[in-house]
Amino acid sequence: MGASGPWERPSNDLKRAWGLRNMDSFELNKIMGAILGTCLVLMATNFTAQAVFAPKPVEKPGYDIAVKEEPAGGAKVAAVASEPIEKLLQTASVEKGQAASKKCASCHTFEKGGPNRVGPNLYGVINDHVGQGRNGFNFSAAMKAKGGNWSFEELNKFIANPKGTVPGTAMGFAGIQKDSERADLIAYLATLADTPVPLPTAAK
Ligand code: HEC
Repeated sequence: MGASGPWERPSNDLKRAWGLRNMDSFELNKIMGAILGTCLVLMATNFTAQAVFAPKPVEKPGYDIAVKEEPAGGAKVAAVASEPIEKLLQTASVEKGQAASKKCASCHTFEKGGPNRVGPNLYGVINDHVGQGRNGFNFSAAMKAKGGNWSFEELNKFIANPKGTVPGTAMGFAGIQKDSERADLIAYLATLADTPVPLPTAAK
């Protein structure tokens, strides 16, 4: 660009130059318009996509890992087994119990000699010591302090409401509220032993 620009010499040159400039800005406008338009389209697409594909809250999580919330005031949820386990076991199904054990399988193995995971292996747990052994599983202080054995009854209470039965337990599981499902599960656990544990009879 020399010193004699279109500003200094109004002429055809200037007109042409202006024309060119106008063209330039026209082109520029078109480009800007295209970019803006693209942005708008992108925004609109994004917006609709969010509206269409908005993640819906999962209705049922894969396994009930959430800890049940205690109602305000600290009142304990009455998740204590309503029916005696002896009675519930009379109609329990080992097959259904095995299916129900999938809820525990994220943390527990069930087969003999199975590894400890988040929770201990559960082979032969019925009538075994609470919070002991299990191939050196590192139990919480709360579980170690509970003492006693996993009788059908204790297990029933624990599975119904782990945190309520053993406050401070490391088992982050909400519990199984359905009586029959718990009974199925316990009947299944009873088969997992070198000598399957006979189910208790109703008369007690
Ligand atoms: C989120 C992981 C998790 C899930 C799911 C889970 N558990 Fe546990 N479980 C644990 C942990 C961790 C412990 C050890 C608790 C402690 O030390 O306080 C445990 C301990 C236990 C014990 C005590 C074992 C012993 O030798 O004292 C039993 C019985 C048990 N779980 C049964 C079950 C059953 C049955 C289910 C399914 C209905 C289940 N758990 C689901 C993590 C889990």
